[in-house]
Amino acid sequence: MQHLTVLDSYKEFKYIFYLKNKKLNDYYLTMYNELEKAGHAGLMIFELNGGILLESEDRVIGGSFLNFHRYNHGILILCIFVDPAYRRQGIWKTMHKCIDKIAKNKNKTEIWSAIHVNNLPMLEALKTINYTTEFYTVKRNLQN
Ligand SMILES: CC(C)(COP(=O)(O)OP(=O)(O)OC[C@H]1O[C@@H](n2cnc3c(N)ncnc32)[C@H](O)[C@@H]1OP(=O)(O)O)[C@@H](O)C(=O)NCCC(=O)NCCS
Repeated sequence: MQHLTVLDSYKEFKYIFYLKNKKLNDYYLTMYNELEKAGHAGLMIFELNGGILLESEDRVIGGSFLNFHRYNHGILILCIFVDPAYRRQGIWKTMHKCIDKIAKNKNKTEIWSAIHVNNLPMLEALKTINYTTEFYTVKRNLQN
């Protein structure tokens, strides 16, 4: 059985770090699906290597899904999601502190993510924890 690392807690919930396994993968797909429904999904081009679930014995109310093998210096956040009933309580901010712990443990110095241009809540939230914009991802529709 995989050894569980508890990174932090919130009420009865614990932030638990997982290497990629079925449970983490299932929550990744479920939470990513919510992003898709909101029209905020990105390019799913990096492999899931591990992540954090915020969970109690019977419920998962948040997750962050990570790639830490692709870049030597950085961790890529593929997706972060907080259950709507638990938003604006600092869960996402603590999730980032947990990601920082993982990064330092892996001797990484950068955290990267990609946010849809219409995802205004996330773009607002990112300003509060010092993210800067490094790239614009562009696309062109082919005409018939
Ligand atoms: C974006 C998201 C992760 C924020 O989670 P959260 O736990 O509610 O965030 P926090 O409570 O830690 O918020 C931290 C700060 O970010 C900002 N923020 C968070 N949500 C915001 C919103 N909807 N509008 C404006 N600012 C927001 C605020 O400054 C907030 O601090 P405050 O509540 O003291 O004002 C959550 O809304 C979510 O899961 N959205 C859907 C998934 C998604 O878009 N993920 C990102 C792409 S991968």
